[in-house]
Amino acid sequence: MNRESLFALVAHRLGEDSPTLAHCVATERCMMALAHRFGEDATQWGLTGLAHDLDLNECEPDLSNHTLIAQKVLEAEGAPSEMIAAVLGHNNKGPRNTLMAKALWVVDPTTGMITATSLVLPSKNVADVQVKSVKKRMKDKRFAAAVNRDQIRACENDLNIPLDDFLHLCITAMTESE
Ligand SMILES: [Fe+2]
Repeated sequence: MNRESLFALVAHRLGEDSPTLAHCVATERCMMALAHRFGEDATQWGLTGLAHDLDLNECEPDLSNHTLIAQKVLEAEGAPSEMIAAVLGHNNKGPRNTLMAKALWVVDPTTGMITATSLVLPSKNVADVQVKSVKKRMKDKRFAAAVNRDQIRACENDLNIPLDDFLHLCITAMTESE
């Protein structure tokens, strides 16, 4: 499995211009940045981020099968077991017992919060998002209410990265992806 073939597969299932595909690419970029920080395999971490929601369109609105379909697709593609486990783990369909699985768990809602914060800016540009703005939005429970704040704050315990550093890393990674 390479990046090109996985992107084609994910784009086909989610739609070329879909927000979910953009979310998967944002997650890919953040996962790669985290892998670099930890000295881990950035290629594998990136592919895991890119793949993590590949079945979301076909699962909605009932998300009980979410990541279980992705598991079958990824197995057929010969994806590594660690990658599949992380994808399952991000939807509570398996344990998150690797650093990569923990990272995906934390990155997923964080990209959502950063994107939502960018969309209320006049420029609607992630590059203009500031860490303090994201933190302020996180305190407003009505803003992007579906995004789990505790899951974002898990960067401190699960990844040992302070929230400010983590948000900065993700904003920077997402900006590079644009
Ligand atoms: Fe996601």
